Amino acid sequence: MTTSPDSVKHRARVVPADSAGIAEAARVLAGGGLVAFPTETVYGLGADATDARAVARLYAAKERPTFNPLIAHLASADAAKEIGRLNATASRLAEKFWPGPLTLVVPALPRCPVCELARAGLDTVALRVPAHPVANPLLRAVGKPVVAPSANRSGHVSPTTAVHVLTDLRDRIDLVLDGGPTPLGLESTILDCTREQPRMLRPGTIPRGDIEEFLGMAIADSMPVGGEAPAAPGQLASHYATRAKLRLDADSVRPDEALLAFGPSLPQGAERTAYVLNLSPNGDLVEAAANLFAHLRALDATDVHAIAVAPIPTTGLGEAIRDRLLRAAAPRP
Ligand code: TXA
Ligand code: MG
Repeated sequence: MTTSPDSVKHRARVVPADSAGIAEAARVLAGGGLVAFPTETVYGLGADATDARAVARLYAAKERPTFNPLIAHLASADAAKEIGRLNATASRLAEKFWPGPLTLVVPALPRCPVCELARAGLDTVALRVPAHPVANPLLRAVGKPVVAPSANRSGHVSPTTAVHVLTDLRDRIDLVLDGGPTPLGLESTILDCTREQPRMLRPGTIPRGDIEEFLGMAIADSMPVGGEAPAAPGQLASHYATRAKLRLDADSVRPDEALLAFGPSLPQGAERTAYVLNLSPNGDLVEAAANLFAHLRALDATDVHAIAVAPIPTTGLGEAIRDRLLRAAAPRP
């Protein structure tokens, strides 16, 4: 038995993401179950977006506030267009970046099958067409939109391996499709496309500059970290919370801190600290994004009280990496 709709008291089964595993995952999803699966960004926790009971279980499993809407994942841009209205800008973006790590928030069509709960009652819907050799065939097999927030408990660091998923959600979900570490390691870029000029709701794996260059248009800004009204309701100031305190832009390390380094030159005092992980010894931001969440989890599992984080550039993917670190460092509510 794989699904028990009201409570999952058993441990999640882990299956390899081969064709049999994908077929089983599709069956569990269609039956109202909760399945963690890899995407090119992070592991998502999937539920049938049209099934309010399944979506309610998903919010409960993550302990996620129900005012925080979910992204509907589709196998193709055509399937996405059955759900939301893409204006000219959104259509160009979809054509260029889908399948891929871009999420578009657009007005929901009247026939939008994504349940109210998943949309948190909003008249918009967030759409994403992942490019991943497991996620894409899985969505095709389900044949319905699948909501998939990152497969972690709400507020925790996002998972980039099946083990991360089990650490947070082992007793709360039905199945984990293990497809190995996710290649990009950082969530999708989210753009509000309800107007012709898009607005950045969450910096992510596709850098702002790439999108602006393609569109020939600037992306408007959403609220800064710590602002009052989050534009994406889930972008609360404190997120990705580690147990250990984070100290950002550190040019030196204290002996009682761990170090999250970046690039070839280490901050002063690095030789005296017990724990050092480098996001990218060569200073490559793509590699740093892929390592960010796993390194944060690993340093947080040590006995240190604080983690010093070396300066990260603000350019390209650095915007998204710095965004996650700022939220991880923000004071807890
Ligand atoms: O890379 C990703 O996007 C991953 C993988 C699994 O696809 N998913 C992910 O989902 O990061 P989640 O739930 O952790 O983050 C989704 C964000 C939240 O901040 C939520 O508030 C925002 O998207 N969002 C969803 N629907 C929205 C809407 N209609 N308007 C504004 N923001 C929305
Ligand atoms: Mg998340």
